[in-house]
Amino acid sequence: MLEKRKSEHLHINLEQDVSFPDLTTGLEDYIFVHNALPELALADVDLATTFLGKRLRVPLLISSMTGGTPEAQRINYHLAEGAQVAGMAMGLGSLRAALETPGLRSTASLAVRSTASLAVADTFRIRHLAPDILLFANLGAAQLNAGFSLDECRRAVELVEADALILHLNPLQEALLVDGNTDWRGC
Ligand SMILES: Cc1cc2nc3c(=O)[nH]c(=O)nc-3n(C[C@H](O)[C@H](O)[C@H](O)COP(=O)(O)O)c2cc1C
Repeated sequence: MLEKRKSEHLHINLEQDVSFPDLTTGLEDYIFVHNALPELALADVDLATTFLGKRLRVPLLISSMTGGTPEAQRINYHLAEGAQVAGMAMGLGSLRAALETPGLRSTASLAVRSTASLAVADTFRIRHLAPDILLFANLGAAQLNAGFSLDECRRAVELVEADALILHLNPLQEALLVDGNTDWRGC
């Protein structure tokens, strides 16, 4: 079920017009004024910054998107290669798909990983392609109301050798999904 949903999300975004017809980012209201006498050398312009203790060459994050299907693995690999070259941070899609696969839910069962669980987890594993980037694992905060605890949060980070965890807060999306997690009490 999760694999089907992840694949659908990718195809909807790749094949359908998902942009808002009227709503914009508002960025069209801003125009950069050309500075004709900048008094600097372009080579001296340094966009580097430090975020969560990690150096980024550019203050950009590839937001959390995907994992859990073979297609998603290819996308994560390409994004990781790009992030490594550009020196930007990257988020992986929700690791729920990997954690809910038999054999990966708790630390104790690490040794008995089946090929199926390895395959799902591998669609999120990109460290071999991007050893230096700031990498975020990802889980839905709603999962904390559906049986996930600190152990699963740690597992998500360990599974992909991430530096940090993003907990996504998406009650509207969950409310619109057929089998969404709609219990946000005490989250
Ligand atoms: C195909 C797809 C899958 C996504 N999956 C996740 C996810 O698993 N976890 C998450 O926190 N955000 C997820 N997002 C949301 C993005 O991280 C981002 O917040 C959202 O796309 C809005 O940013 P944008 O307008 O720049 O695309 C997903 C977005 C897309 C397009």
